[in-house]
Amino acid sequence: MDEIFHITESQQFSRNDLDELFNQADAMETLVKHRGVTDTLKDKVMVVLFYQPSTRTRLSFETAMSRLGGSYVSTENAMEFSSHAKGESLEDTIQTVANYGDVIILRYHKEGGAKRAARVSPVPVINAGDGPGQHPTQSLLDMYTIRREFGSFEGLNITLVGDLKNGRTVHSLAYMLAKYPIGKICLVAPPSISMPQGLLDYLEKHGIDYNQSDSLAAVAPHADVVYSTRLQKEYFDDPREFEAVQGKYVLSQDIVDTMREKSIILHPLPRNEEIPYVVDHDPRARYFPQVRNGLYMRMALLNKVFGR
Ligand code: NCD
Repeated sequence: MDEIFHITESQQFSRNDLDELFNQADAMETLVKHRGVTDTLKDKVMVVLFYQPSTRTRLSFETAMSRLGGSYVSTENAMEFSSHAKGESLEDTIQTVANYGDVIILRYHKEGGAKRAARVSPVPVINAGDGPGQHPTQSLLDMYTIRREFGSFEGLNITLVGDLKNGRTVHSLAYMLAKYPIGKICLVAPPSISMPQGLLDYLEKHGIDYNQSDSLAAVAPHADVVYSTRLQKEYFDDPREFEAVQGKYVLSQDIVDTMREKSIILHPLPRNEEIPYVVDHDPRARYFPQVRNGLYMRMALLNKVFGR
């Protein structure tokens, strides 16, 4: 990896990078369980710059940094409470905060934000979501969760369902899955919010078997992983378009009952109606352990960014 280790998109990781991160995340779990904290990053300060709401991503990065002995400064609502509100460009803000910290965690409301930031930043920028673009650290933890559950990715049948057009988590996850000899990706979405063509081309180019379906009930019984996502309401221009797709592809208990015994259900969260609460009691539901894995993975990632 480059000397300044910006993390902007899933495609940049090699399989070796990923395998190393998975192993390090395992080590972080042991560390957290036995000692709680360490001091590997005690000389480092992380700047957290979020232009969109977040619960898990921001708090898990902050927790990860705290548990590694480092510190952080945080703007959780940069839209209103940073100089963005006074018309400052992203580039100027980045060149400002880079003077304070050693790494920048950026969530931006527009696609390409992380790459713009990386171009001007003298310190590593980590993409914590750029509009409907990508969310590579989410897919790291998603991949880590799948690996923990199945031991490998080989031959797995993975269903991605929901807003595949605007959902950055499914974009990053599909790019990352394409690094491994998985079995198949099933893409389930209404045609108006289906997977972008560029991503389908990428899957094809990398020899990944995929299909598109409009029936969750038809594909769920064959899936090892069902990865459900919410409709990204904030990116719909026309409320009527949103209403036209709302409530489709709910992973009801009836559908879950048709799933393989050893399959799992993941979701990046937050969820809306796409996974009813009753499904939480099903042994295949793994979205809360998935959240916890995010802490271990982000600890591993921060260490790696600093070569520790
Ligand atoms: C996701 C995000 O912000 O992209 N949440 C997360 O980071 N876990 C998913 C979403 O907002 O739907």
